[in-house]
Amino acid sequence: MRVLGIETSCDETGVAIYDSDQGLVSDLLYSQVELHERYGGVVPELASRDHIIKCLPMIDLALRESNTRFEDLDGIAFTQGPGLVGALLVGASIAQSLALALNIPAIGIHHMEGHLLASQLTSKPPEYPFVALLISGGHTQLMACHQAGSYELLGESIDDAAGEAFDKTAKMLGLKYPGGPEIEKLAKQGATDRFTFPRPMTSKPGLDFSFSGLKTHTRNTLAAIERPTDQDKADIARAFQDAAIDTIRIKCERSLISTRLPSLVIAGGVSANQSLRKCLAELAIKHNVEIFYPELKFCTDNGAMIAYTGALRLKNVTTQNQSIQVRPRWPMTELEAISP
Ligand code: KG4
Ligand code: ZN
Repeated sequence: MRVLGIETSCDETGVAIYDSDQGLVSDLLYSQVELHERYGGVVPELASRDHIIKCLPMIDLALRESNTRFEDLDGIAFTQGPGLVGALLVGASIAQSLALALNIPAIGIHHMEGHLLASQLTSKPPEYPFVALLISGGHTQLMACHQAGSYELLGESIDDAAGEAFDKTAKMLGLKYPGGPEIEKLAKQGATDRFTFPRPMTSKPGLDFSFSGLKTHTRNTLAAIERPTDQDKADIARAFQDAAIDTIRIKCERSLISTRLPSLVIAGGVSANQSLRKCLAELAIKHNVEIFYPELKFCTDNGAMIAYTGALRLKNVTTQNQSIQVRPRWPMTELEAISP
């Protein structure tokens, strides 16, 4: 089965073709970072318009570079949600129109399931069941994953997502968007012993997260310094990152103890953070669990994860829904299990 995948949920246009026998035969990504940079964050209308411009030429290129003709495609997968409604509608419209013209099925994919299943795009994928930590710009969730498509929510953020906290903190410190990689870079120059920031919601039991208090604490610390120097900012970035990572570690540890599952899969943009990876590697050794990440290029948004998840889900599809519908909010626990 050969599936075209289209990702347009936020500020990256991803187009990929996944073949169940040959694997990924094309994987193209266009990032809109430069377009949104001057606004300090994603401008939804600009994102939608840019997806419209980029998506079709990228599909053409993906077909050409993989020697695929339209009639070789068995299905089209698109990100149906969660994400920005206008941006999602671009991918959904293109996918459904192409599918109708080619008389093949189109399938709407959950963006976070795509992130999670990107961990399968390797020679040594994790085996079910496992605990998943999904950490992106819009989500922070711990899940018990029983099989593909069967996810049990263990805990989630009650306010900001982890990536959102990185982005907002970066903005406060005058850093570029997206803030996660910028904070990571600056934190390397920061002192570990100057500030200690709170680890929210760790003193009581439970697996939910909260990052908004940490963000406020960061803002207050910065405001208390009259003319912050570059070193002050680096020290604050370091204290913020240490607190965010430590909070994530504590919750992961609790989830591994309570579920007794043998492995931990980490996915979503924040999983690209090397300090987080180091910290969780130590946790894995302590608890004798295996830890898995998608390849670095599949941690942030991409079309490959949508094409792959589409190929898994299309095997189960019997009826075809041709309506152009998106789900900007969509709990992952509502998904149907995928039969192996
Ligand atoms: O998964 P993703 O590409 O898009 C969403 O689905 O949201 O995640 C983007 C998020 C942004 O908030 C970005 O700042 C964060 O992931 N991020 C990082 C790093 N790289 C990306 N956060 C911390 N450290 C990083 N190295
Ligand atoms: Zn994402």
